Amino acid sequence: MSYAVQAPDGNVGAPVAIGFDPARARDDFPILGNPVHDRPLVYLDTAASAQKPRAVIDAVRACYETEYANVHRGVYWLSERATEAYEGTREKARALINGAEAREIVFVRGATEGINLVAASFGQAFLEAGDEVVITHMEHHSNIVPWQMLRDRIGIVLKVAPIDDNGALILDGFVDLLGPRTRLAAFPHVANALGTLLPVEDMCRIAREKGVRTLIDGCQAAPHIPVDAQALGCDFYVFSGHKLYGPSGIGVLWGRAELLDAMPPWQGGGDMIRAVTFEETTYAETPHKFEAGTPNIAGVVGLGAAIDYLTGFGLDAIAAHEADLLGYATRRLTQFPDLRLIGTAPTKSGVISFVLDGVHPHDIATILDQQGVAVRAGHHCAQPVMERFGVTATVRASLGLYNSRDDIDGLTAGLDRVREIFG
Ligand code: ALA
Repeated sequence: MSYAVQAPDGNVGAPVAIGFDPARARDDFPILGNPVHDRPLVYLDTAASAQKPRAVIDAVRACYETEYANVHRGVYWLSERATEAYEGTREKARALINGAEAREIVFVRGATEGINLVAASFGQAFLEAGDEVVITHMEHHSNIVPWQMLRDRIGIVLKVAPIDDNGALILDGFVDLLGPRTRLAAFPHVANALGTLLPVEDMCRIAREKGVRTLIDGCQAAPHIPVDAQALGCDFYVFSGHKLYGPSGIGVLWGRAELLDAMPPWQGGGDMIRAVTFEETTYAETPHKFEAGTPNIAGVVGLGAAIDYLTGFGLDAIAAHEADLLGYATRRLTQFPDLRLIGTAPTKSGVISFVLDGVHPHDIATILDQQGVAVRAGHHCAQPVMERFGVTATVRASLGLYNSRDDIDGLTAGLDRVREIFG
């Protein structure tokens, strides 16, 4: 199923009736009711971090007020309640991305930590000098740097699959890089700086046929489109809680059970052991062997509430709403003659990056802020892809379920103001 819109000319069809009311959803987010610079807030930076619905805020508060204790340790009532809530989120996360078993869900600090865990642990178990890891030219730094660090530590070779001038993956170029020494291919589901929706199912299938394991960075996908990790055929899938309307400091690494079982722990400490003596330690089972120390308990509870909130609407409805909005935004923005979209792949989701002739992205974002419009300006933690497009920075408007066409109109009115100021 595809939720993409045609982006290059923004020439998509009429708005679709989808039965999702963003205005009602917006009311669920207390922060969106607060004016900024005396104007209604137009929040278009969900790709950096999503705002939080009341359900998540209440769940975190209730955790601390009524059900808080350490998990997996106490035999008393409060600890058992906290453990139930914590482990309950593991099942919710499994269901969200259709993993096979709840024990395949490892709680981490965020997608960045998930990728670092795989680099360290999968790297230790399965990679040696000369082995190759393939990434793409549109990675977030979090899917570049951990592999460079591993390269510097053990001598793996890092290869980069090319993209075209629209920001779409060149699939043949990716396939050409999968050689006899390739052990892992790691790539985004949706590229954070461009919005490109990658052909991840094809990429995973081709990699699998060549005996190559796959990791998908799902940060910009899991909150926006339905994800079925088993159907995608990947080996690892990571996402961050704070981009999924949940708390920051919590995220998910999903991995196939047989792989996680074969991987060593990456951090040592409490809660990840079976028995410890000064001579040796035996480790707990998956996933606990990867969760050393007291975890982010309230963060996990909040993530559970965020997943419930999202699935209450249904990811299909959210995806359809955001696809409609992306089409509308693309049509409106391409009416500015001196605006260049960065990222015009035929399949996109939720992100519109652009530059305006003669105005620095930071100046644009500052003027937009004065109009109450929050966008991100900069390299979006994706410097290599900026370089690929010959820019150092873009303005990025990114969508969430609470956005509406009014927000896009707010953005374009702000850009009119930019033009008034800069001529
Ligand atoms: N990774 C986040 C972004 O794309 C911070 O903005």
